[in-house]
Amino acid sequence: MASVLVACEYSGTVRNAFLREGHDAWSCDLLPSDDGSNRHIIGDARDLLNDGWDLLMVAHPPCTRLCNSGVRWLHAAPRGKTTDQMWAELDEGAALFSDFWNAPIERIAIENPVMHKHAKARIRNYRPPAQTVQPWWFGDPAFKATGFYLKNLPPLAPTAKLTPPAKGTDAHKRWSWVHRMPPGPDRARERARFFPGMAAAMASQWGDVAKQEIAA
Ligand SMILES: C[S@@+](CC[C@H](N)C(=O)[O-])C[C@H]1O[C@@H](n2cnc3c(N)ncnc32)[C@H](O)[C@@H]1O
Repeated sequence: MASVLVACEYSGTVRNAFLREGHDAWSCDLLPSDDGSNRHIIGDARDLLNDGWDLLMVAHPPCTRLCNSGVRWLHAAPRGKTTDQMWAELDEGAALFSDFWNAPIERIAIENPVMHKHAKARIRNYRPPAQTVQPWWFGDPAFKATGFYLKNLPPLAPTAKLTPPAKGTDAHKRWSWVHRMPPGPDRARERARFFPGMAAAMASQWGDVAKQEIAA
């Protein structure tokens, strides 16, 4: 059975999708897993990168300091932080992304939104995302532009494209829950949770490609 590492995942969404396809899948996060699975490793995913993941790795590293929408904080730090701290956090975020991107694993997918120029400049061997997808391409009724940085994996093909509701309707508001979520202690955690339809597409499409390559 070929093995899959899902780094930076507490929800178990992608791990469970690969398990359902019959793969030896493991998630890893600094946090415990939501579902209490015994296939979750609590700790720093960088410590697992040399453990021989032969199918692939999917990583969802934090994007807060890397993504375009957060670039303004580098020059005007939020209350309680300094700009020096913001730049140090950017260095940390870029170093984590780089470690995943340059890991000794044949097939790699990293999920992250579009990055700003300071992040790109800090990533070793940076390459632009291979594609940007939406949850509603895979049957999940939500808007959230999701970039995939891919090494030796094909872009995902949509599996169940829904029709987005018209702007101004209640349905459009519901689909925009990621962007409309009010401030609160669980906001970041809930917004970061991955989408099941997209996870199923990854497991089926990338799992098949990788399995065929390993068997050849
Ligand atoms: C944007 S969230 C991704 C959540 C994911 N989409 C899910 O459905 O669970 C980023 C996660 O990375 C984790 N993280 C940050 N640094 C890490 C590290 N070095 N090793 C493992 N996990 C890490 C955080 O604890 C956080 O849960």
